This record gives sequence, C-alpha cells and structure tokens, in this order.
Amino acid sequence: MAAKEKSLLPSGTIVPTHIGVIMDGNGRWAKKRGLPRKIGHREGAQTFRTITRHAKNLGVKYFTVYAFSTENWKRPADEVEALMDLFEKYLDEVRDFIEENIRICFIGDRTMLRPELQRKMKSVEEDSRDFDAMTLLIAINYGGRDEIVHAVKKLAKRVKEGSLSPDDINESVLENELYTAEIDGDIAPDVDLIIRPSGEQRLSNFMIWQSAYAEYYFTNILWPDFKPSDLEKAIIAYSDRNRRFGGV
Ligand code: IPE
Ligand code: IPE
Ligand code: MG
Repeated sequence: MAAKEKSLLPSGTIVPTHIGVIMDGNGRWAKKRGLPRKIGHREGAQTFRTITRHAKNLGVKYFTVYAFSTENWKRPADEVEALMDLFEKYLDEVRDFIEENIRICFIGDRTMLRPELQRKMKSVEEDSRDFDAMTLLIAINYGGRDEIVHAVKKLAKRVKEGSLSPDDINESVLENELYTAEIDGDIAPDVDLIIRPSGEQRLSNFMIWQSAYAEYYFTNILWPDFKPSDLEKAIIAYSDRNRRFGGV
C-alpha cells in the first residue's frame, strides 16, 4: 500500500477556493517513451485521480479539470475514440470519489457526446449531489467561447419571451447562464488559480470568463508526471501572490 502523502503546506498558506487544471502533456509523455498517445491519456487519468483526492485533502472547495476541449474533436478519430472510451471507463471509477464526499459535476456541451456517456454523467451527478467536501467539475467538450455563446442564447430567448429587458443584462445575469451556474443548486465561484503543466503558457479556451482575475501557475512537468507535491508547490506560489482586483 502506498504511504500516505504528507502535506507540505506551511502553516498560514492560503488555499485557493477554486483551482482549474489544464491537464496537458499526455501525448508528449507517451511519445518520450515510444508509446501510443492513448497510453499517455491512460496515465493522465491516473494522475487525475491522485491529484483530485489531494486537492480535497488540502481543503480546495472547487476543482475543475479540463478533460476535452471543443477543439479536441480535430484530433484523429482513433484518439478521440480512445479518449471517449477512457471517460466512460472513468465514470465508473470516479464513483470512488463519492465515498470521499466529493460532488461531481460536468461542464461543457454534452449533447455532442455518446448517449451512454451522457447517461453515465447524469447518473454520477445525481448520485453525488449531496456531497460537500469538494465539488469536482469535469470539463468535457468544454470551450469558454462556446459557454458564453450558450449563455447569450439563453438570455436572447428570455428577451424574446419578454421575461428579461436588455437593460437589465449585467455581468451577474450573464454569469448565471454559464455552464458553471448549471451545477445543481450552486454557482461555482470564479477560478482563483489555473495550473497548466507541460510547458505551454496559454488558456486554450479554458474558463475565459471565470479567469478574469485568476492567478496562473505554469510548469514544464508533463501531466502524467504531476505529483501531489507539485500541486502543493502551485498552491504555495499562489499564496505568495498579491491579488489586487484592480484596487490598491
Ligand atoms: C492533454 O494531453 C489531454 C487532452 C487534450 C485530451 P495532450 O493529448 O494534449 O498531450 P500533448 O499536448 O499532445 O503532449
Ligand atoms: C487543452 O490542451 C485542452 C485540454 C487539456 C483538455 P490542448 O493540448 O488541446 O491545447 P493546445 O492545442 O496545445 O492549445
Ligand atoms: Mg496538449
């Protein structure tokens, strides 16, 4: 049995309420080893489990992982299929999180996903809805721009029906229509810290609305190699930042 990971957070460390992770570098991890990309995704899925648990143990309240973007459909069909197979398999396994009091929700346009995957997503959400140690948001077929378009369409419908006046549209009204507001009975707060491994320094369409005042942490480590201690390093770096939100 693996030894229990000791928390390295110094006392007084400010733990972000909401962390987002762009789980990147699976393909390069596999390539370095001469393995197919899908093996990299399988390893990345293991890292996802370990890091999600660790986030909960460190006191993070919302943890969002970017699993598949609206742009990832551009990949070869066999890679997309391998990823969808992995999601389905993992949906059975993420039920373990339920035992750890973790609520699981999905963000993104799920209408484009396989019906069986959609069914499993709904069932995991329903079965975990009362858990409150941490909310895990899994972004599948998620795009920040798509999310804003989806919200704007909902507002446009309300205006057309006459239940909303254009003059009453403000940031909070729009925010209430984002995918992050569709989680049962709750709205996920803005993301405080975005972690991107693998050396890339970009958002790739992740939470573009919710990250307006996020802090960023980049590391060259590839996602399958990302360790609980790397999460701690990111949180410690965050804790040292001075967030001003436009004030002084
Ligand atoms: C991230 O790893 C996983 C997904 C985008 C689904 P990549 O597959 O992007 O890995 P690299 O960037 O090619 O190394
Ligand atoms: C972002 O990674 C999407 C996910 C991690 C799910 P990509 O690998 O798709 O991003 P780009 O193409 O390098 O920007
Ligand atoms: Mg990538």
